[in-house]
Amino acid sequence: MNYKLIDMKVFGDERGKLVSLESGSNCPFEVKRCFYIFDTKDGIARGCHANRNSEFVLIAINGSCKVKIDDGKNVETVTLNNPHKGLYLGKMMWKEMYDFSYNAILLVLASTHYDEKEYIRNYDDFLKEINK
Ligand code: TYD
Repeated sequence: MNYKLIDMKVFGDERGKLVSLESGSNCPFEVKRCFYIFDTKDGIARGCHANRNSEFVLIAINGSCKVKIDDGKNVETVTLNNPHKGLYLGKMMWKEMYDFSYNAILLVLASTHYDEKEYIRNYDDFLKEINK
């Protein structure tokens, strides 16, 4: 499956900790966009789509959440629960983020500018497109 976990180097000293995200070192693509998800409500799932062109790195910079990843053949679940663990997702992966903890903040780096046309938001359409 086209995903991987990335261990971000933590620069720590007596003042606290710092993580740097940089294209070409711990982020495998040129970052064109970032967004973050916060104030999530109990029991909800976000994402629930696939992207034809975008790659992403997801980091739970506060709290935790789970990510279900589905490439049309296999389904795997990853827990993001620390601010120095990144989840890289390749193109055409169906993803669902859920089980957000109280005060969770999920930071997402993206390889593209936002374009609604590259989203597949219906699961059956995703399977059709993967299998054609
Ligand atoms: P949505 O795709 O539903 O978010 P999620 O992946 O968390 O389920 O996006 C929510 C709204 O935000 C929707 O109106 C589109 C808008 N949006 C942007 O304008 N730019 C972006 O980069 C993203 C990710 C979403």
